[in-house]
Formats: sequence, structure tokens, C-alpha cells
Amino acid sequence: MAKLPKSAIQTLRDEALRAAKQAYAPYSGIHVGAAILASDENIYTGCNVENASYGLTVCAERNAIANALLRVSTERASLIQAIYVVSDKEGATPPCGACRQVISEFGHGGLIFFPGKRGIKKIKIEELLPEAFSLS
Ligand code: THU
Repeated sequence: MAKLPKSAIQTLRDEALRAAKQAYAPYSGIHVGAAILASDENIYTGCNVENASYGLTVCAERNAIANALLRVSTERASLIQAIYVVSDKEGATPPCGACRQVISEFGHGGLIFFPGKRGIKKIKIEELLPEAFSLS
């Protein structure tokens, strides 16, 4: 993937923040937003959607991926050029294990930005889930 210009990263962050405002999180109170720069060069976003039956909660990252898949029919293994995750929780908000697995499936060669212990952390998606399970 070509190096992302600072302005593109800034736009992704802004879109993730906008998505977080739409979170449905009455149980945890944590509002998470994710923005994907997809292989078609468009941005797709998602927020976390909780449920009174707690286990049905869907994370922001997976909702953003579902949103991108609705629009992008090609290059799906490399659907995610970059994904930016934000939350209004203090401190680190790294993606959960389930999201790491799903991001891996659609993020070949991509980058992820998320709130780490010392500010925003940027790593390769391959580093997010080493030895990811895959059928290919
Ligand atoms: N959450 C996400 O949206 N993404 C993650 O990767 C971790 C957790 C949400 C799910 C739930 O609504 C809230 O954060 C607290 O777990």
C-alpha cells in the first residue's frame, strides 16, 4: 500500500469520531467509531451497537466492515487499506479478539490506527493478529 498522506489519516480520524457519536451503547457507556479507507478509495464507517442481551453486541470495526462490503464487490481480501478506531473511553482501546480475526480476513496489506497506551498506535494489520486463522 502506498504511504497514506497525513490529510487522509486526519479525514479517517474525523469520520471515525463522527461514527462514534452514533454508537448505541446504553450498557457500557463506551462509544466506539471505526472508519475504513477501502480499496475503492471511499470511506466506510461503523459504530458499536449494543443490546439488552449483551452477547449480541456488535463492535464498531465489524459494523464498518459490513458497511464497506455492501458497496465494494472486488478485492475483498484487501478491502481495508486502513482502518482508524476511536473511542471516548480513557486510555487504550485496542480492537477485541473477534474484530482482529475479522479485520485480518479483509485487511491484507492494510494498516490499523487505534488508541494505544501512549496515544494513537499505528501498526500493520498482519501484526494485529499474528498467525491468523485462514482457510486460504
Ligand atoms: N467495542 C468495540 O466497538 N470494538 C472493540 O474492538 C472492543 C469493544 C465495544 C463493544 C461494546 O459496545 C463496548 O465497546 C464495550 O465493550
